Amino acid sequence: MVKITFLSNGGKVASAPENSNLLRVSLKEQGGIPFKCGGGLCGTCKCRIEQGLEHTDAIKPKERKHLRPEDFEAGYRMACQTFVLGDVAVSWVVQNGKGVVVDAAGQAVSAAPVGG
Ligand code: FES
Repeated sequence: MVKITFLSNGGKVASAPENSNLLRVSLKEQGGIPFKCGGGLCGTCKCRIEQGLEHTDAIKPKERKHLRPEDFEAGYRMACQTFVLGDVAVSWVVQNGKGVVVDAAGQAVSAAPVGG
């Protein structure tokens, strides 16, 4: 089993079988990673592997449509396209549903970048 820490959800920890899909684990364990399509199209599930990037599988062509090389270097992946092979800790941008970036407690921390 591997350990997945959902940093943007208060550090919630879940365990899952090796080679699990990151978004699927999040859904099953209520990890909280945002998503829409689940199929690599929308880019909503963009997240950052803060620890254990070396425990994720190869970057998929669909991810390259939403993320730049420098994003990958900084640890960004799309959760629905990422499989975890070992322990990881993941963060993402938390929004309040109105495009405003909030912290885990729901307090606004900054406006989301327009068109970013
Ligand atoms: S949920 Fe749409 S790209 Fe991952």
